[in-house]
Amino acid sequence: MGLFSKDIQTMDDLLLHGLQDIYYAENQIVKALPKLIDKATNRDLTKGLKDHLEETTKQITRLDQVFAKLGEKPKGVKCPGIDGLIAEADELAGEIADKEVLDAAIVGSAQSVEHYEIARYGTLIAWAEAVGHDDITRLLTTNLNEEKAADKKLSSVAVRKGVNRKAAS
Ligand SMILES: [Fe+2]
Ligand SMILES: [Fe+2]
Repeated sequence: MGLFSKDIQTMDDLLLHGLQDIYYAENQIVKALPKLIDKATNRDLTKGLKDHLEETTKQITRLDQVFAKLGEKPKGVKCPGIDGLIAEADELAGEIADKEVLDAAIVGSAQSVEHYEIARYGTLIAWAEAVGHDDITRLLTTNLNEEKAADKKLSSVAVRKGVNRKAAS
């Protein structure tokens, strides 16, 4: 590497970096979700979070397959974006004594994570298409669709299943 070289030169490098970034993020989410599950009390919420934890481990397996198709070893690179969202979720939860208000906060924090993932997968799919890696878009789209479904489920837990109403009463 020369003095002025940078690690990311091409769109393929950018795609690989993005995949390493989401790989790190998904692994951090697997570590963080059990803590949120422990803190949550609403049954629909804990079930939703548990289901998504299981999905998240499968998403990591799909990313392993993505790396394999690219001839790369699965590897994460530190992603300050997800670290910040998880740290904020922890901090906020630590400041709330009321269990029902805490449930509402946990839904909000979890949705921030889902929206982050939705943004990342959307970009990765567009980049993969741009460089002609149609072989990995299907796997990434499956992950994207699970994040969208998880976000919708969280909205339903907050609004239709009454988490917000109970927190406000
Ligand atoms: Fe995920
Ligand atoms: Fe997710």
